[in-house]
Amino acid sequence: VLYSSFYSVKKNHIIFIVNCCHCTERPKVKVSIKPAQHVFRGETVTLRCDIDGEGVTSWEYRWYKDGSFYSSSELQEYTFSPVTESDAGKYSCYGAERGGSRRSQHSDAVTLKVSDRAQTVLSVSPQKWLTEGDPVTLICEVYSSSTGWTFSWFSVTASPGNRYHYQLLSDSSRGAGGNYTVSSAALKHTGVYVCRAERGNPAYNTTYSNTQPVWVTGVSPQVSLVISPSRTQHFTFVSLSLSCEDQSNSDRWRVRRYTENEQWEDCSSLLWASQTGSTCTFIFTFTSNTGVYWCQSESGENYHPVNITVHYDVILESPVHPVTEGDTLTLRCLYKFTTPQNLRADFYKAGSLLQNQTTEMIISNVSKSHEGFYYCKHSERGESPKSWISVRGETVDQKTLLKSVLV
Ligand SMILES: *[C@@H]1O[C@H](CO)[C@@H](O)[C@H](O)[C@H]1NC(C)=O
Ligand SMILES: *[C@@H]1O[C@H](CO)[C@@H](O)[C@H](O)[C@H]1NC(C)=O
Repeated sequence: VLYSSFYSVKKNHIIFIVNCCHCTERPKVKVSIKPAQHVFRGETVTLRCDIDGEGVTSWEYRWYKDGSFYSSSELQEYTFSPVTESDAGKYSCYGAERGGSRRSQHSDAVTLKVSDRAQTVLSVSPQKWLTEGDPVTLICEVYSSSTGWTFSWFSVTASPGNRYHYQLLSDSSRGAGGNYTVSSAALKHTGVYVCRAERGNPAYNTTYSNTQPVWVTGVSPQVSLVISPSRTQHFTFVSLSLSCEDQSNSDRWRVRRYTENEQWEDCSSLLWASQTGSTCTFIFTFTSNTGVYWCQSESGENYHPVNITVHYDVILESPVHPVTEGDTLTLRCLYKFTTPQNLRADFYKAGSLLQNQTTEMIISNVSKSHEGFYYCKHSERGESPKSWISVRGETVDQKTLLKSVLV
């Protein structure tokens, strides 16, 4: 027993010495990737091999890709400029002393992923429709990649023929973090925006993001878009006129629109419509005319955006302008193929039934809680599109008026 125990200790002893030689002699190694592990074709990417070795003045760096020898260099960094999809893989390195016998450990592998191209995504928070004075943030992100980007934001305008012009927002802070915040939106902020990101040296730029419109409505704007007939929903194949009216009644305004497929156009360029003075007249309406319409000044400022929906059979008649608290709101359901119009319909707000079997719905003493999407539905004719009804607090003028009456 004694002999055998002695033997075993001796055996362990040998093993211990072997292990020790191995770990003290071989320095640790780490591989890092700049700017990130996930990059895009065309970027400049640098692999770096850091050896934690003392006393060695010069290493030969040996790179492995997917387990096989890839390259050897006396430079600590290996650069792909520009990187392509075929460079993707698992990279590791180790060092061999130049003119010596020391060897480092083998590093862990890091995975380099190379994607076709960076997708930049722009979103608007908390919402695209604002009232003057509301805060708004344009959030720019590079899809599935967050490291090392700086961002810029642009307003977009389109000239005839839809050639886009991008204008850098002058105060667009190009710092890290993809948020551009306007603490108090003004009427002039109505417009269409895109963003872009860049990183690395030399700089790699992403393409422009999706477009995002921002609509700012005024409490009492100096120019109004007057719609005739005066409602936001309209039937197909009827005439419709949109007129920009300001105090001085000048001809300086033109009507523009932005539709769901991210196209913006002048009234004058539309089929079945024409612009005369500050008025845009549709001879015929189509469902494809659904969109946001507004007035644009000669200098390119955008005012008074309004949602217009064109539908073929049933529509909701609702006010074009926000309803003021305390006022009465009247909603009707209109039918294209029915006379008389006084059929009984059900009225809904955000999916829940408000009132059933009625010819019109009247809400007196409107409050902020009445704000929302409304629509009507007839059991046989079908249902109307939804329209947003917004409620404004009493304006300052009304409050002062009320005070002076009370005093
Ligand atoms: C509609 O109102 C009638 C009576 O006013 C009622 O009997 C009926 O159940 C209501 N329908 C729905 C769907 O609520
Ligand atoms: C316009 O329509 C959009 C989409 O339906 C909606 O989100 C928005 O609140 C509407 N804005 C106004 C002022 O009606």
